[in-house]
Amino acid sequence: MQKKEIDWANLGFGYIVTDQRFVANYKDGAWDAGHLTADPNVTMNECAGVLQYAQTVFEGMKAYTTVNGQIVTFRPDLNAKRMVDSAKRLEMPAFPEERFLEAVTETVRANAAYVPPYGSGASLYIRPYMFGINPVIGVKPADEYQFRVFTTPVGPYFKGGVKPLTIRVSDFDRAAPHGTGHIKAGLNYAMSLHAIVSAHAAGYDENLYLDSATRTKVEETGGANFIFVTKDHKVVTPHSDTILPSITRRSLMYVAEHYLGLEVEERDVYLDEVKDFAECGLCGTAAVISPVGKIVDHGEEICFPSGMEKMGEITKKLYDTLTGIQMGQIEAPKGWIHVIE
Ligand code: PLP
Ligand code: COI
Repeated sequence: MQKKEIDWANLGFGYIVTDQRFVANYKDGAWDAGHLTADPNVTMNECAGVLQYAQTVFEGMKAYTTVNGQIVTFRPDLNAKRMVDSAKRLEMPAFPEERFLEAVTETVRANAAYVPPYGSGASLYIRPYMFGINPVIGVKPADEYQFRVFTTPVGPYFKGGVKPLTIRVSDFDRAAPHGTGHIKAGLNYAMSLHAIVSAHAAGYDENLYLDSATRTKVEETGGANFIFVTKDHKVVTPHSDTILPSITRRSLMYVAEHYLGLEVEERDVYLDEVKDFAECGLCGTAAVISPVGKIVDHGEEICFPSGMEKMGEITKKLYDTLTGIQMGQIEAPKGWIHVIE
């Protein structure tokens, strides 16, 4: 198959229209069979539930070309399950997990020419999502929904690739106890836009959100979970019911323990103790592992010993092992790699 003429090495994290996307509709209590379409546009009523009350959830995944030339996805079953959890919380009908996997496979296959080649540093980002599409004016769930999957080739999420980031402790909250922080709802991202725009304007790459109940514990950023490394090489990640259960973070904790033989801890992480860590990273599908060099808390700088030039030693080992598994250079735990073709 002839790949598209794209400057893979210089891709940023943006939207590039690809050839095909998957669409299925939910009406009268059932999902239809769905189909691929070349039309990237969605037509809906002016009063659609998603437009009025933000009834929409999504997922983020990637397809990679492995060292053997196969196109694969990474733990897609966990995305399928998380999307069911997200949908339920917003009173939307679940898109069946098996069908989710088929739709992702079908869409990636139809856009195989856009899957970046092995070694290019880029990947094909996959965005499954669903939304309420029929008119809704009183506050209630829609009756009709659309599920879609599109793909777009991407490079690094943060400009500068793996250069350490500077982030700030945000005065805004991301999620409330018993709210929607643990699901991938569009509304969580809409309310983070003001915080990210003001962080960028002030020269920061991202926001560190604290738990909104006590404002003493580290939660996550707008689009990634945290991992920290102690000076004696323990890998620590915040435990919280109000953060997104990152598939990358769960995988990294497994890799730390079972591939690198490190001690791991998922627990409350207090802002006060962050200064004692040796390394810090943001992890997620888009972020992969992006090292953090500095956290600024209202003028007070927390500078990690790993510095502003390169990833910390353990973060780098985690990064190399995880990406090695995704690219087929390192044997994956059973069930982690889903071969598309
Ligand atoms: N946290 C938030 C708020 C996110 O949007 C994401 C991205 O999906 C993550 C964490 C990382 O999750 P995952 O590793 O499953 O992509
Ligand atoms: C992802 O990592 O897939 C996300 O959805 C995060 C988003 C901020 C791009």
